[in-house]
Amino acid sequence: MQEAMIKICGVRKVYRIGTEKVIALDRIDADIQKGEICCIFGTSGSGKSTLLNQLAGMEKPTEGKIVIDSVDITKLREEKMAAFRQKHIGFIFQSYNLLPYMTALENTALPLMFQGYGKKEREARAARLLKMVGLGERLSHYPSQMSGGQQQRVGIARAFAAKPDVIFADEPTGNLDTKTTAQIMEMVLAFARENQQTIVLVTHDPEMASYADRILTLIDGNIVKDERKDKK
Ligand SMILES: Nc1ncnc2c1ncn2[C@@H]1O[C@H](COP(=O)(O)OP(=O)(O)OP(=O)(O)O)[C@@H](O)[C@H]1O
Ligand SMILES: [Mg+2]
Repeated sequence: MQEAMIKICGVRKVYRIGTEKVIALDRIDADIQKGEICCIFGTSGSGKSTLLNQLAGMEKPTEGKIVIDSVDITKLREEKMAAFRQKHIGFIFQSYNLLPYMTALENTALPLMFQGYGKKEREARAARLLKMVGLGERLSHYPSQMSGGQQQRVGIARAFAAKPDVIFADEPTGNLDTKTTAQIMEMVLAFARENQQTIVLVTHDPEMASYADRILTLIDGNIVKDERKDKK
């Protein structure tokens, strides 16, 4: 059998605030396969963002390990982790996180800076991605000159620009209406399926979760359900 793209082994995360102890994650075990669209689903405070932060190496778990593409990321120091992220991981944020002083084209091309592409090639690739998300006419627009849905489409183009193996998305359509959410999710799925990329999608919204192949439900820091569905 193929090695899982992401292996989560016995992950526990405890936060301490003074004498208070918060067990945000406990005994998390899961394998996520290459090309899987996996949703981490649960109510507010269930530990979704905490789990995503551990998977993306933004924080280290208190116990357990996380292996991505055969690399134990819990062992990587900050600098190596940053390099690993640039090479393997893309992000889509709820608040888009575009740089305000950069155009749609420049924002999309940014992750390619770390991949050794020349400027011309970066911009050609970014322009192609922006056309694919329907923003061919907005290349030189700044974030403030675009709607929320348009900004998130730039966010998607940026996330996929460097062809990362894994894309992490935390409530990526949390600020958008139902119709725009559907469009955005269809785009994400189409991109991911084309290149067999793995998506880990965090949401509290059952409608969003329905786009996934697999739903891991969290309650109080534990996985209580692991469902696989027919592809949409
Ligand atoms: N840095 C931190 N320090 C202390 N406690 C934290 C920290 N981050 C998260 N927690 C706690 O861990 C638990 C899980 O939080 P988390 O942010 O993962 O929830 P979530 O499922 O993403 O919720 P939401 O849907 O509201 O974003 C919560 O009880 C939260 O208070
Ligand atoms: Mg959260």
